[in-house]
Order: sequence, then C-alpha cells, then structure tokens
Amino acid sequence: MSESPKVLIVDDVEANLIAMEALLGGLDCVIVRAGSGNDALRWLLRHEFAAMLLDVQMPGMDGFEVARLARMNPRSREVPIIFVTAMLETDENLFLGYESGAVDVLFKPLNAHVLVSKVQVFLELDRSRRRLADEIEAHKRTLADLDAFNYSVSHDLRAPLRPLKGFSEILLEEHAQKLDDEGRRLLSRIATAADKMDHLIDDLLRLSKVSRVRPSAGLVVSLSDLAREIVAELRGDHPDREVDFVAAADLSAHGDASLLRIALENLLRNAWKFTTRSPNARIEVGSTTLGAETVYFVRDNGVGFDPRHGDKLFRAFQRLHSSADFEGTGIGLAIVERVIRHHGGRIWADAATDRGATFFFTLPSGRPPPGVAGSSVTPGGA
Ligand SMILES: Nc1ncnc2c1ncn2[C@@H]1O[C@H](COP(=O)(O)OP(=O)(O)OP(=O)(O)O)[C@@H](O)[C@H]1O
Ligand SMILES: [Mg+2]
Repeated sequence: MSESPKVLIVDDVEANLIAMEALLGGLDCVIVRAGSGNDALRWLLRHEFAAMLLDVQMPGMDGFEVARLARMNPRSREVPIIFVTAMLETDENLFLGYESGAVDVLFKPLNAHVLVSKVQVFLELDRSRRRLADEIEAHKRTLADLDAFNYSVSHDLRAPLRPLKGFSEILLEEHAQKLDDEGRRLLSRIATAADKMDHLIDDLLRLSKVSRVRPSAGLVVSLSDLAREIVAELRGDHPDREVDFVAAADLSAHGDASLLRIALENLLRNAWKFTTRSPNARIEVGSTTLGAETVYFVRDNGVGFDPRHGDKLFRAFQRLHSSADFEGTGIGLAIVERVIRHHGGRIWADAATDRGATFFFTLPSGRPPPGVAGSSVTPGGA
C-alpha cells in the first residue's frame, strides 16, 4: 500500500498554519507545516507533495519567489501550488500569481468549504497519478519478465536442437544410401525444419539482446553514412540487383551507433527485399520535420502493404507477406521498434498495396543542423 499523500502548507504566521491544518484535518492526507520559504523549499527537496498551499506575503522570501524556485527544481516542478493571499485582488497581482506557477488562488479569510474542496481535487489527482505510475511500473516488470523468459526459453531450446540438427545431417551425409527415397525425403524435411527452428531461436535471441542493451547516449551518429554502408553491403550480397539508392546528406542523430545500425539495417533490408520485383527499385533515406520534431524516414517503391495492418508489423512474428513470396521470420521490425523506443523515439509506417512503403521514426535529440533535411514529405502520405 502506498503511503498517504502529503500537503505542504506554508505561512510565516503560526496561527494561520494551525487554522489551515485544522480545516484540512478531516482529509486523508499528511499535513506538513513550513514557517518560511526556505523551510518549504527544504521540504520540497526531500518529499513528494500532492499540493502546496503557499502564503504570498512572507518576510524574506515571498510566495512568488518560493514558487519560482520550486518550478526550477525537477523534484518539485510538478507540485500544484495554491496561493493563499489577502493581496492579489487586482488583476495585475492575480496575473503575477499565475505567472509564477500557481494553479489556483485562495483569498483570506479562508472559506473552509472552498479550501477543503480544492485540496481534495489535488489529492484525487495525486492518487490517480500514483495509480498510473504503479501500473506503468507493473507493466515494465511484466515486460522485463517476458524478456527474461524469452531469453531463457530460446537459450534452452538450443540444447535439444543441436543433436537433432547434427544427427540428421550425419544421417543424410553418411547413411542416406540405407534409406529409400521416401526415407531420405522425410529425413531432409527434418533437417530443414531443424534449420528453420535454429533461425527462429537466433531471431528470438537477437530480439532479447536488443531489449537488454541500454543505448549508450550522447554520441552523434551519421545516419547517412550508416545507410550508405548498409546499402553497399546489400549491393555486394546481391550484385544482380539494380536499385536506385538516395540518402540525404548529413542525416545525423544522437544515439547508440551500433543499435541505430541494427535498426537502419533492418529497415533497409526490408526495403531491399520488398522491392525485389519492382522494375525500377528505389530506396530513399531522408528526414522531414513534424512540428518541432525531426522525423527520419526509409522509403521504397516496392510491394507495400495494406496500411490498415501498419501497427501490427512492429510485433514479433507478424508478417503481411508469405514466406513463399518473401523470406523472413517477422522479427526485424520488432527489433527496430525496440531500438527506437529505447532511444525515447517513436516509429510508424505508411504504405499502400503495390505502391511502396515508408517507415518514419523519431529520435528525440537527433536534430540535424537546419538545411540538411532530405526531401520534404508529410508523414501520412504514402
Ligand atoms: N518495406 C516494406 N515493404 C512492404 N512490406 C514490409 C516492408 N517492411 C516490412 N514489411 C512487412 O512487415 C512484415 C514484418 O517485417 P519484419 O522486418 O519484422 O519481418 P521480415 O522482414 O518478414 O522478417 P525478418 O526481418 O525477421 O527477416 C514483413 O513480413 C512485411 O509483410
Ligand atoms: Mg525484415
């Protein structure tokens, strides 16, 4: 059970503190008294408060100053402040009060009913906020447990698979002549299935590895260079293919170079794969802006997909194309989504069947210098 929420009451006059405490006595909260601005700031540093009732006129540091300093500190920035005053009646002073961070203003002499109702609202808000924080924490724990489970199951599946794979290969290589055609056919199906399972386990372990790695932050990564390197590798692996590749110059982002490489590689491999049948295959990597945010994109003119299923793709093993048409296990985009999410960014896709696909993503601090963005697009248009 979480402890009762705290309300901080700040006034230099002891009698006022006693009166306020008496008025709020019936509420399910802990009242903490502070006799000066300094005292209040000390409390705010050490504890979380559901609300602060703050006298405006105090010797030394007045209420406006306390509010200003409280707003500067990340620990107390969010605490709702209710100014209690006898002097804010003019519009100008009221404005000053709200400017310095008040969410409400109460006038002396205090009306008991109004005071209690207002504090009650903030107590309820605080309870909802805590409930939400607890739920988020519980979800995070569940996700971490699932990741650990995924890792250990995938890892443990390797052990029985090894002899299955190894012995069926030996059987095929050294004892095949003792079997008839049907026996050899069945045996090679076992070997193929074992190979497939080996790949699946590899993919699951890759997914779990990405979830465990915390991105090393801060370094500037050139997404343009990464993209060019990856496409050069793809060209090396598929010299038969002709793909027109365009990368905006100087696309950069702050983040973990090796994780961002994994993300970009999965996106580009997809673009490469799903343009296999396009006569004039084209892949483009660029950025655009959405409000104040830089949005990076990887676009192709391949087979695309039905945009109604766009959200599903980021879940593991979700595929919109059959493996007979395009090979794969459906883990790549789940990895990309985790990398981007771990960096604090978002990813989404836009596509149309037979008209290509565009994958957009953000990386919060990764803003390239003005003027280096790639072609301009509006996220939402295919
Ligand atoms: N550029 C794209 N164009 C069209 N469809 C795409 C594109 N990228 C992804 N998809 C669709 O999303 C599905 C999931 O992609 P994802 O990368 O997770 O898996 P995969 O490429 O099929 O397999 P893997 O990446 O594990 O080898 C794909 O199977 C495909 O249906
Ligand atoms: Mg893929």
